[in-house]
Amino acid sequence: MIKQAIIPLAGLGTRLLPLTSVFPKELLPINGKPGIEYILDECVDAGIKEVIFIISKKKEMIKNYFYNDGFYKKIIKQKKDPRIKKEYQKIIRYRKMIKFVYQNKPLGTGDAVLKTKRYIKDKFFLMLLPDDLIIKKNCSKSMIKIHNQNKFSVMASMNVRKKTVSRWGIYKMGKKIDKRNFFIKDVIEKPTIKKAPSNKAVIGRYIIPKTIFKILSKIKPGKGHEIHITDAIQSLIHKQNKFIGHNFSGKYLDCGSMNGYIKSSLEISKL
Ligand code: G1P
Repeated sequence: MIKQAIIPLAGLGTRLLPLTSVFPKELLPINGKPGIEYILDECVDAGIKEVIFIISKKKEMIKNYFYNDGFYKKIIKQKKDPRIKKEYQKIIRYRKMIKFVYQNKPLGTGDAVLKTKRYIKDKFFLMLLPDDLIIKKNCSKSMIKIHNQNKFSVMASMNVRKKTVSRWGIYKMGKKIDKRNFFIKDVIEKPTIKKAPSNKAVIGRYIIPKTIFKILSKIKPGKGHEIHITDAIQSLIHKQNKFIGHNFSGKYLDCGSMNGYIKSSLEISKL
């Protein structure tokens, strides 16, 4: 069973400047709710019991958001507003399941994952990238269901326009399993159009084996001098680990870009 999830939150959010110059992007409200809460709700609904946040000193505001008890208690006492009370109780529920670890240097997603090594208990864990919101269908839940059938690793996949391939991790497809799932033969981080083996992109939901830590501790920095989780996964695939690409059926919202962030509020308000 997949019971633990990790969420890298140490990114600088430069694509959303100036909104992120003092404020972590994951706390920016999307239709009246911080983006990170959508990700947490996806985890809870998928049966996750513990979530590890990888933050940095610069992003301690995220931790404060879940630990501002004194302020809440005072307001609840003064105002007796049932809405605020309910929200506070929700935040306490989230807090009970969150652990914080630090990644103070932005050395890449792979490096962020490595920071969680001593907390991961089971053979597999879930990773969610908070910029990638998927609405209408719980992608993590669908992926856990697939994993439970065969104990293989699973990653979310979406068709993207060919001219945008260099923005994503791109899959080379192996054997098709069914309408929505296929075996991954290769995965390449941000290839040029010429080198891209397909237009199937990695979207930020991954079920990864614990064995990845061994690879991550040895791997050399790749594109942009960062340690990429994609490169570690590629290495696992080449060591005969089975990875399934899952074409999810929900709607993808790229909250890490300004256009996507604005659109996400509009889309969610229509739900
Ligand atoms: C990361 C991954 C990339 C993936 C993307 C999905 O890139 O490295 O493989 O396709 O998330 O959002 P980033 O958005 O951090 O540049």
